[in-house]
Amino acid sequence: MRRTIDWGDGSVVIIDQTALPGEFRLLELDTVAGLVDAVQRLAVRGAPALGAAGALGVALSAHQDRDVRRDAELLATARPTAVNLAWGVERALGKLAQGKDAVLAEALAVLDEDEHLNKTASKHAAEVVLAECPRRPLRLLSHCNAGRLATVGWGSALGVVWHLHEQGLVEEVLVDETRPLLQGARLTAWELAQAQVPYRVQPDGAAAAAMARGMVDCVLVGADRIAANGDVANKIGTYGLAIAAKHHEIPFVVVAPSSTVDSKLADGAGITIEERDAGELTEHTPEGARAFNPAFDVTPFDLITAVVTEEGIFRGEGRSRDRRRSP
Ligand code: MRU
Repeated sequence: MRRTIDWGDGSVVIIDQTALPGEFRLLELDTVAGLVDAVQRLAVRGAPALGAAGALGVALSAHQDRDVRRDAELLATARPTAVNLAWGVERALGKLAQGKDAVLAEALAVLDEDEHLNKTASKHAAEVVLAECPRRPLRLLSHCNAGRLATVGWGSALGVVWHLHEQGLVEEVLVDETRPLLQGARLTAWELAQAQVPYRVQPDGAAAAAMARGMVDCVLVGADRIAANGDVANKIGTYGLAIAAKHHEIPFVVVAPSSTVDSKLADGAGITIEERDAGELTEHTPEGARAFNPAFDVTPFDLITAVVTEEGIFRGEGRSRDRRRSP
């Protein structure tokens, strides 16, 4: 399986996520400006993949003997919410004094670690799901894309599906289409189809109704930034899902590598939420319609059953009393 993002011969090579599912194509980015543009257009996206993009971008700048600190600033601020982007930039930048080969080696280390960390985090999370959800096989609900495409390899929340599917435990995944850029309908559905996991797409607005009808055993989502108190920023709509899951006493599990934890941030109130262009929403509106288009929201930790990283399981209050198990 090809990595979502990798180092080419003096360039950064990405799977172009704007072309999927219609076309699988690679983009070879040989300028930092091109990589920043790809990040902003969501040709490469998802918090862990953005961490890799940040690190590789710094390596590209060093490789071309550019003003690396200036490029690092442009890369780190290309999108504001996923902390992994600045984290990846900082990791590679930390080796600048040792020369460009050391910078590239550090960027490649970020990539090499990614799959292992996500596999470990999603394995821990699969254990949480199995402990929290008595029904077999499982009906899981996914929002946005937290799969291979959102990481370098394997995936975080969708990584849990891969572990459970390997054990024959998945009945179906309900895939929120994820308005307005359709990361669920285009990317998660594509990954599930490739892996031959049964799935159905649904409009985001159907998620609460699916829970009310008893169609969901567990909600699984990734994260873009996790504050020290466990509050989680993730794709817009995640907060509403968590409220609905709590109401219906359905476990709500967040899965991410520890590079998504921003321990300097006390709680979710301090997370900068990216607001995107109105044009993403106004295709069907009257001429001149204005729009509110936040790309992310913040889910308080008390709505979350567990935040799971490769380092362990952090339990919240978002689960029903009768489903409580000791960790
Ligand atoms: O705007 P996107 O597509 O970059 O948003 C991605 C998400 O919200 C993902 O859920 C998150 O980055 C976790 S990916 C493992």
